[in-house]
Amino acid sequence: MQPCTIVIFGATGDLSQKKLLPALYHLQAENRLTDDTRIICMGRKDSTQQEWQDLVTEYVSPRVRGGVNNDLLQTFLNKLHYLKCDINEAFSYHELKKLITTPENGFSQNIVFYLSISPSLFSVVGDQLSAVGLNQETDGWRHLVVEKPFGYDQKSAAELERILRKNFTEEQTYRIDHYLGKGTVQNIFVFRFANLLLEPLWNHKYIDHVQITHAEQQGVAGRAGYYDGSGALRDMIQSHLLQVMALVAMEPPADMDDESLRDEKVKVLKSIRPITHDIVDQHAFRGQYAAGEINGKPVKGYLEEDDAPAGSVTETYAAMKVYIDNWRWHGVPFYLRTGKCMPESKAMIAIRFKKPPLELFKDTKVGESHANWIVMGLQPDNTLRIELQAKQPGLEMKAHTVGLETMESDDIKHKLDAYEALILDAIQGDRSLFLRADEVNLAWKVVDPILEKWAEEKDFIHTYKAGTWGPEEVKRLQDNSCHAWRNNA
Ligand code: BG6
Repeated sequence: MQPCTIVIFGATGDLSQKKLLPALYHLQAENRLTDDTRIICMGRKDSTQQEWQDLVTEYVSPRVRGGVNNDLLQTFLNKLHYLKCDINEAFSYHELKKLITTPENGFSQNIVFYLSISPSLFSVVGDQLSAVGLNQETDGWRHLVVEKPFGYDQKSAAELERILRKNFTEEQTYRIDHYLGKGTVQNIFVFRFANLLLEPLWNHKYIDHVQITHAEQQGVAGRAGYYDGSGALRDMIQSHLLQVMALVAMEPPADMDDESLRDEKVKVLKSIRPITHDIVDQHAFRGQYAAGEINGKPVKGYLEEDDAPAGSVTETYAAMKVYIDNWRWHGVPFYLRTGKCMPESKAMIAIRFKKPPLELFKDTKVGESHANWIVMGLQPDNTLRIELQAKQPGLEMKAHTVGLETMESDDIKHKLDAYEALILDAIQGDRSLFLRADEVNLAWKVVDPILEKWAEEKDFIHTYKAGTWGPEEVKRLQDNSCHAWRNNA
């Protein structure tokens, strides 16, 4: 491990409280931060070091797996430095530079800048860091970590790239998609490329279709102001779900290095059949939650959320049918869906295989045989289930479904949060799980025509009751009844 200095812009914000600081604590607990690693927390508010340490204790303690260890917590707190920052003002960056470069302070000159701030501020932060020379790799490396949204559409994403490129190179840029840090998502690589058994079946000859689901019970939770300008397609599908799909569909990479992996994902994104305006209705669907009930508790509808503009048709549910026009996947639909206020919080990949050519063991009730499935649960647990047909015990010659399952160990130590893996990679300079600019651009290219069409249709959106699996009408995307959504992992 190399020592480094981690500078968090927006350290008092929600992401930092809930994810970044707890992830850093866990890395410390796993001995993954060197003794001389320091974390500079930049925030707008006034705070003494002691007040900041007390606040961080409040943020981190309830989120520590297995309970906080006071000695470890103290070691972690000792690594923190709070610096009040006016993000637009030069003096804040001079202060930062002085803190980092004064030799007596003992800060490592390898620096991770973590921008946990609105993308509208990337430009000013980049320019100001550059003005004091902190972007220069004169005496150590610089890694710039940025959070989504990476633009609002293809055009604004290109503008954001231009802004980032002014002061940092592509090699220094780490675009986080936290889905790539999830255990099961990383397991896709191992499952696919460490088992010879699957590869011969992993194509259009044997796979009928693929479903990728992200469902959450939570609604927009006080974020309607932000969310209304985004919607589920941008918020989840353009980013996380297309990434997951690319990993399921990609060719084996030449190597596990960052460029080889990302080259293969890019090929998948490039092969997606364009969803032009005239076919948007056959390939994309949107819905918005209305009042309902979750776990026996009443839930208000999206339009009743604080800050939700009256009459908004922003989607809180989105589904897509995607075709990948390459040799491996030609004709296989990939269904992606995401929704807020769903009956359960879960994310999974479900792969349905074709039926055998002769159905010798039909289920007499349904008049056909059951297909094989591979289901990979991303959350709440990391699971993997292969469903096969086997003979039912007893005298009858009947088949029934049996599952071969693995589940990640219950050992609390192994339940890593996605941010731990990704922050560690950012420190170690491994960009394989970070997005490259061309991936972001291609993902926008896929969804832009849908967004444009929806923007024209301002008067109507299907609704679904909070606590249900989305509007019934989404069925129109399915090519046949075997493509019905699977809700159980
Ligand atoms: C974020 C979205 O990127 O991912 C949120 O902006 C969403 O709206 C979240 O709730 C889901 O992440 P996870 O890890 O809880 O599935």
